[in-house]
Amino acid sequence: MLIDLSDRVAIVTGAARNIGAAVARQLAGCGAKVVIADIDSVNGKSVAESIINQGGNAYFYKVDLNEEEQIRDMVATTLKVYNGLDILINNAHYEVIGSVLDITADDWDRSFAVLLRAMFLTSKYAIPHMIESGGGSIVNFSSLYGKNPISNYVTYTTAKAAVIQLSRQMAIDYGRYNIRVNTLIPGGISANPIDNDEAAKIFPLRRRGQSKEIAYVVCFLVSDYATLINGAEIVVDGGEGLPHMAEVHKRIKELIKDGELDIERL
Ligand SMILES: NC(=O)c1ccc[n+]([C@@H]2O[C@H](COP(=O)([O-])OP(=O)(O)OC[C@H]3O[C@@H](n4cnc5c(N)ncnc54)[C@H](O)[C@@H]3O)[C@@H](O)[C@H]2O)c1
Repeated sequence: MLIDLSDRVAIVTGAARNIGAAVARQLAGCGAKVVIADIDSVNGKSVAESIINQGGNAYFYKVDLNEEEQIRDMVATTLKVYNGLDILINNAHYEVIGSVLDITADDWDRSFAVLLRAMFLTSKYAIPHMIESGGGSIVNFSSLYGKNPISNYVTYTTAKAAVIQLSRQMAIDYGRYNIRVNTLIPGGISANPIDNDEAAKIFPLRRRGQSKEIAYVVCFLVSDYATLINGAEIVVDGGEGLPHMAEVHKRIKELIKDGELDIERL
């Protein structure tokens, strides 16, 4: 199956590093013209340059996703530079760690601004052009923690749960315009492919995923091979989110018994 996105224009938010950078590279590898949208100019420019050096088409756009005007201008510039907008990947990440008692209202607002409000705003400015051009595809990044919370991570887990509903809502609202909106749910991704930490020994595949394994799925989701996938939650986690607590306990005991687990590094 060869995915051809050569007539498509994509914006990837948070594309200066890790998953976003891998998604941008993969989309460009499939022929798309890609806007690397990030607040980090140094790494963002370097991702765009490396795509161009490999024969792809990319453009870095510095944007602070907290700012509505900057998001509006990012979409306007994309239309000016590439004359279209077909794909929107809402991937950017900003987190504040803590429980309800730990964080301030400002922490809550700053976290939600990037994790959720920015998705609403990028969509608000991108969708009219997608409607005009006959369709589009939006992928919003959630997390396993948006389904099953972990302790002291209230803004992240709550925002990521809301992302799922935002995608479902937009899938219903804009499906009639041939705009598909899906949620991508990654498991724990390693920035370094050989960085197989202790926790990953418990995972069904006995390893974390790599950014490119997320990027492959994103390319499929925005392609013409996925035209019936709309409002879906696509879990790409190697089965990490699957085991019952009892299985996790069992596996930890097994690893300890075999002397294969360094508790200090868990
Ligand atoms: N890495 C994982 O293990 C994992 C697991 C589950 C879900 N996810 C989700 O996948 C997505 C990518 O994760 P990642 O680990 O690659 O993220 P990351 O933190 O490595 O990168 C996030 C990017 O967002 C950019 N960004 C942050 N604030 C911004 C702002 N105000 N304006 C513009 N850009 C801004 C950063 O500069 C950075 O380049 C996120 O939505 C994350 O929640 C990641």
